[in-house]
Amino acid sequence: MTVASSSIVALAGSSLPLDTLGRALHDLRISVMDRCNFRCPYCMPSETFHEHYRFLKSGERLQFEEIVRLAHLFVALGARKLRLTGGEPLLRANLPDLVGELTAIEGVQDVALTTNGVLLAKYAAELKANGLQRVTVSLDTLDEQVFARMSGGFGDPKQVLEGIRAAQQAGLAPIKVNAVVERGLNDHTVLDLIEHFRGSGVIVRLIEYMDVGNRNHWSLDRVVASRELLTRVAARWPLHPVGQNYRGEVAERYAFDDGSGEIGFISSVTEPFCGACSRARLSSDGVLYTCLFAERGHDLKRALRAGAGDAELTALIRNAWLNRVDRYSELRATAHEHPMKKVEMYYIGG
Ligand SMILES: C[S@@+](CC[C@H](N)C(=O)[O-])C[C@H]1O[C@@H](n2cnc3c(N)ncnc32)[C@H](O)[C@@H]1O
Ligand code: SF4
Repeated sequence: MTVASSSIVALAGSSLPLDTLGRALHDLRISVMDRCNFRCPYCMPSETFHEHYRFLKSGERLQFEEIVRLAHLFVALGARKLRLTGGEPLLRANLPDLVGELTAIEGVQDVALTTNGVLLAKYAAELKANGLQRVTVSLDTLDEQVFARMSGGFGDPKQVLEGIRAAQQAGLAPIKVNAVVERGLNDHTVLDLIEHFRGSGVIVRLIEYMDVGNRNHWSLDRVVASRELLTRVAARWPLHPVGQNYRGEVAERYAFDDGSGEIGFISSVTEPFCGACSRARLSSDGVLYTCLFAERGHDLKRALRAGAGDAELTALIRNAWLNRVDRYSELRATAHEHPMKKVEMYYIGG
């Protein structure tokens, strides 16, 4: 049984936990679904995630009431931003209901969603009606052939653009578009993508291709450094830097000098931002990870289903955070000398 929020705050203790590097817990990313309707080679390459791949069974995934119960505990420990992700979160049945329950939690300031956009046209209005404030849509390119290569042959840019339009009409704002940039694959289409959204209020964010998981055959020579992209973009449209919205923001923001909006650069590879990382991640089967590149997590579902009370669960989360030492991106070079088995992105979400 879940206790009332005021008692949970008491259970969490008077001080909010700081990890071993002095970082507070501020964001919780919740993967609601390990499956996906795309097979982006940089995330879920189809040679591994084929039709016989064993995804979680529905009983193995956290149920909504379990997610909500854990979210209350995270909020009591300092989390203020919740992001629903996956896999593809919109494949999870009745997702708007979960949004409604999460936005109702006292202390939550922001609930967001990251999606590949294919099902967004169908759900945008219902998500907004249930309290979702904003949405991040992944769209790597507008070129249909390049898109097909980057999605593993599923979906097309028109569907994603339709989803973005529906989100705009529903009043979800701001809308951010995430584009992973890979050298020799879509880097020649980046300016077209930016041009398409300039002046529309949609914020394009260019993401350096990351070495998440163990299966995407990542190599540094396929990363296009944000500095290089910034130079290319600024040569076409003059830009000026804009300060952070909040400490720990992952994107470096720039605005177009002509007032046509802003763009962002996410540079986990060339300019790691571990120092201010305030993110915890909950996998679809209830394992808490304190880093996108973690090798191991803390199994909250096991404790929860074994009957742990809120005090016990809170202590598990608090201790996981207090003992957190993660700063993988800052140690990337040495990490590659000692290969490790990292958690996969589709499983904990981006
Ligand atoms: C794992 S996806 C989950 C949500 C949803 N399916 C989507 O694609 O938006 C979250 C984000 O991670 C990004 N991502 C996945 N693999 C990546 C990689 N290897 N490097 C950089 N970003 C990656 C995706 O582009 C997406 O923006
Ligand atoms: S990035 Fe998103 S859409 Fe692409 S395979 Fe991963 S989870 Fe699916």
